[in-house]
Amino acid sequence: MAVDAVTAGPTWRAWCARHCLLLLVGFLAGTLQASEGFTEGEILSNGCGGCHGHTGVSAAASMPSIAGFDRRYTARVLREFRDGSRHSTIMGRLMVGYTVPQINLLASYYAEQTWEGSGFRAEPGKVEQGRRIHEALCEQCHEDSGRYQDRDMPRVAGQQPEYLIIQMQLRRAGTEGMQQPNRMREALLSLSEAEVLAMAHYLASRD
Ligand code: HEC
Ligand code: HEC
Repeated sequence: MAVDAVTAGPTWRAWCARHCLLLLVGFLAGTLQASEGFTEGEILSNGCGGCHGHTGVSAAASMPSIAGFDRRYTARVLREFRDGSRHSTIMGRLMVGYTVPQINLLASYYAEQTWEGSGFRAEPGKVEQGRRIHEALCEQCHEDSGRYQDRDMPRVAGQQPEYLIIQMQLRRAGTEGMQQPNRMREALLSLSEAEVLAMAHYLASRD
């Protein structure tokens, strides 16, 4: 045992003299490549993927997809969640831990991701009812069947159906901290419960 240990020392040292530096250089190059593969925004987004999907495409009917949203919209709503001026169940508490530069990195990361619709299997009758309501009351702002988005307004076409219902109901109720133009509130208030459901079927099933 003792003999082995003594002889193993120099042998190992000799091997290492020839190979260890090469191994170390290889290892460092590998880690550098791995960390270059991730942007800061992507690393931060690890805290979001459980609910919004890794690239911002949500798999849960009550969680919104946020992929491809206008960077300025995302940054604004995250700041509003953080300072408590925007109504939320979860996001307000969550964003308290983020700085404004981190919020901006997150917003840029999600802006670069590709939107995918919810794939919701809607009922054709409700889709047709929703389409008529959309054209009369919503298309003037949510253009292109709800696909349009800008710094003030997110895409609603292909959004998760339960999330859409929650958002419409909160705004109908005039919940504090829910933002909306007056015309939108008026349009939503003119709908029956069945028509709100039809709107969710129509919007969630857009590609
Ligand atoms: C535990 C689940 C959960 C986690 C984690 C989470 N979110 Fe959310 N997110 C929600 C819910 C639910 C809402 C709707 C607002 C609310 O009720 O809080 C939301 C809303 C949003 C919205 C607004 C969507 C819209 O259509 O206006 C954005 C943007 C957003 N989250 C981004 C993020 C980012 C970025 C992170 C990571 C830092 C994150 N979320 C982490 C659940 C979550
Ligand atoms: C006058 C323009 C306008 C009209 C009309 C309008 N909206 Fe909106 N809508 C907006 C804006 C702006 C927002 C984003 C407000 C914010 O910051 O939360 C919004 C947000 C939404 C949201 C929340 C999206 C999200 O991801 O949180 C839903 C759902 C929605 N609108 C549905 C509708 C429906 C359905 C109609 C028609 C019955 C309608 N809107 C009519 C301008 C409008």
